[in-house]
Amino acid sequence: MKIIQSVRWTDDGLGVRIIDQRLLPARLVERELRSLDDVTDAIRTLAVRGAPAIGIAGAMGLVAVLAPNAKQRRDTLLADARNAADAIRATRPTAVNLSWALERVLARASQADGDSAATIAAMRREATAILDEDREMCRRIGEHGVSLLRDGTRVLTHCNAGALATGGIGTALAPIYVAAERGITVEVFVDESRPLLQGSRLTAWELTRAGIPVTVLTDGMAASLMRERGIDLCVVGADRIAANGDVANKIGTYGLAIAARYHDVPFVVAAPTSTLDPSTKTGEEIIIEERGADEVRCIGGVATAPAGVDAYNPAFDVTPASLVSTIITDVGVHRPPYNFVSARTS
Ligand code: MRU
Repeated sequence: MKIIQSVRWTDDGLGVRIIDQRLLPARLVERELRSLDDVTDAIRTLAVRGAPAIGIAGAMGLVAVLAPNAKQRRDTLLADARNAADAIRATRPTAVNLSWALERVLARASQADGDSAATIAAMRREATAILDEDREMCRRIGEHGVSLLRDGTRVLTHCNAGALATGGIGTALAPIYVAAERGITVEVFVDESRPLLQGSRLTAWELTRAGIPVTVLTDGMAASLMRERGIDLCVVGADRIAANGDVANKIGTYGLAIAARYHDVPFVVAAPTSTLDPSTKTGEEIIIEERGADEVRCIGGVATAPAGVDAYNPAFDVTPASLVSTIITDVGVHRPPYNFVSARTS
């Protein structure tokens, strides 16, 4: 199966190579990130996006930014690393994976023995481990989640929680990829996911490329699809899961969960343990990123609303745990009541 790799090291090992997701599905273009501006711009503008992928790109990007500083004094390097990490962290506040990954690399830097070159080498090993571990976590999510799928299961997903959003085969899409590997044929539907169309542009693109048929609908059609044609399962990803199981994910997830409950459709969230945030007690504490009005007023640069009209544009919403039937992580299948007291337990 042709699974895309969204983030990797450049051939010289000094930069980060990403797929520029803003250009999909029209063009598959890779971009190299080497400076702090490259990294912050790519994450802020969603050239690289999806909670695990921005964690990986942030961690690797931090190393790339510091790579030229191997001859610096070590205390200066550590101060520069903290400042660069602050700038990267500030780009997108909702996905916990970004700050989690940056903290891992910073902790490794401060524990490292030796000079700046040795410290940068240790940071690079940590960032690579974050990428490799994410790939493995995606695979395990797929293996736990495939138990929910049978031949003919009709699955509805939202946004893109696939290979483009992670270091591996995705989170919400991982069970679908594993099912395909095992010859289980599921029917996949995806909301286009306005305003930035990650569902139609990215999920439909990567599934089609992998040879998995998918049907696209606009967000407002999901409830009607459940009533008129039937959906067996909704599966979505997450940007942050609070200790009580409240889930922040792409705007529209909450409405989908309400529609799913009304139609008795199980609502499943798939996420790696790096997306669990035990320090956030409930969804009320999660900071929701607000984005620019033009994302709502335009599609693909073409105005779809009067210039200057007010627009509401939260990038994410919070689905209360009471609407979530199951949370699949790399460590297993969790059912209510959720109590994520540490990132490795339920
Ligand atoms: O704004 P985006 O495209 O970064 O939002 C992505 C999502 O909401 C995904 O569902 C989530 O990050 C999980 S990706 C495995």
